Amino acid sequence: MPSTDQTALQFSALGIRDVSGIGLLFAQLRANFQSELAHASETGKWEQIRDSWIASDLAIRANWIDKAPDEFKPILSREHQSLLDFIELGLAVTRTLRQLGATTPDAVAAQFQKLRSKFDLELGECADQIDIGVTKVGWLGRRSGVIMNLTESWLKQSTVELRPIVGRELNALRTHIETAIEQRQSELAAAAESQALARDRIDLSLPGVQRPLGSAHLLRQTFAEIERIFLSLGFRVVEGPEIETPYYNFEALNIPEHHPARDTMDTFYLEMPRGAEPRLLRTHTSPVQVHTMESQQPPVRIIVPGKVYRRDNPDATHSYAFHQIEGLAVDTDVTFCEFKGTVEHFVREFLGPAIKTRLRPSYFPFTEPSVEVDASCFACGGSGCRLCKNSGWIELFGAGMVDPAVYGFVNYDPARVSGYAFGLGVDRLSQLKYGIDDVQLFFQNDVRFLRQFS
Ligand code: PHE
Repeated sequence: MPSTDQTALQFSALGIRDVSGIGLLFAQLRANFQSELAHASETGKWEQIRDSWIASDLAIRANWIDKAPDEFKPILSREHQSLLDFIELGLAVTRTLRQLGATTPDAVAAQFQKLRSKFDLELGECADQIDIGVTKVGWLGRRSGVIMNLTESWLKQSTVELRPIVGRELNALRTHIETAIEQRQSELAAAAESQALARDRIDLSLPGVQRPLGSAHLLRQTFAEIERIFLSLGFRVVEGPEIETPYYNFEALNIPEHHPARDTMDTFYLEMPRGAEPRLLRTHTSPVQVHTMESQQPPVRIIVPGKVYRRDNPDATHSYAFHQIEGLAVDTDVTFCEFKGTVEHFVREFLGPAIKTRLRPSYFPFTEPSVEVDASCFACGGSGCRLCKNSGWIELFGAGMVDPAVYGFVNYDPARVSGYAFGLGVDRLSQLKYGIDDVQLFFQNDVRFLRQFS
């Protein structure tokens, strides 16, 4: 008998190193027992089987459990106990009631009661659906489940008098097993589900992730506002380079090399290789007037938004970089009247319909006559206040009729064409319109400032 062969060996001789090895070992023993049992149903040598397995039982205690390392002792004891239960159950259910000594109704009922308790115990120990599956096969399995065995050995072999009782008990046991298993299964499923729900719980009361939408910077908004006004008058938007040659920034705008007007625009020059043409950061958007007239014939109606650079020390109204929108209109019949009307229209659109406009004589080398465009103070309505320094007027931007000398640089015929130009300081206009007392705020990107205009 293979089972006894193995149990005669010392635990150390089995070559077992882990818990799953122990599981396999006992599974092997159960299988051995079962095949012997099947054999006994034909030969009827139950006593022999029982004796040999009682011997194994003792050997397992002496050779395995007692000799095993401490860490394996608990699992060996558990496996051993369940093997004994298995053997006991097997021996009970494969023998006839008469062989078991149950010959009265009470004794039969007691035998069934014993099985029921065994089943209840086993089911109670099931921890998951897999355990339940194993138990279910063991008790209800069609090939060698307990109920099946009982039908063969207890019911079919019972006396005629006892048969109705055995039948009733057997049915009751089967029903009990079926309902108990079903109930335990749904209990476990419910527990598993509530566990899964707890694990996957989403807390809907948590605030979501906020992804704030940005908005255009106030300067960009001002650019867009001004562009809209001039686009509606038929102007087109043109851009030009921020790195310029002195020719475009100065000479072609009628500012020769030693002209004092250059001083106000002394600017940033780029370091160039020796002998190369000098380059500088443009000090105004006016060079784009020249680029545009070089590349196209009149009529010209353009506005030029862009960044410009000057060597100014930063303060509330100065910055080394700021923004302009240049305007240029040149055609065969552009008059000072059109110029004035356009400027007045722009100021009313930008600052409000009640704002009045005033032109003051000024000087720019590339316009003649040149003017400063003032607006009536929108803070006090013209009566005088801090904003307008009690003058009632606020200086807005410089402008004028294009100096005929400029046409000479771009091959326009001064006898045939005329035009006007203006240069809006976007930062300044934005400061005035929105009451911003420090131009540096535009460049610091403090969200508390930016948000006020989003
Ligand atoms: N370019 C001048 C400046 O930056 C402004 C200006 C532009 C004046 C066009 C007249 C005409 O100061």
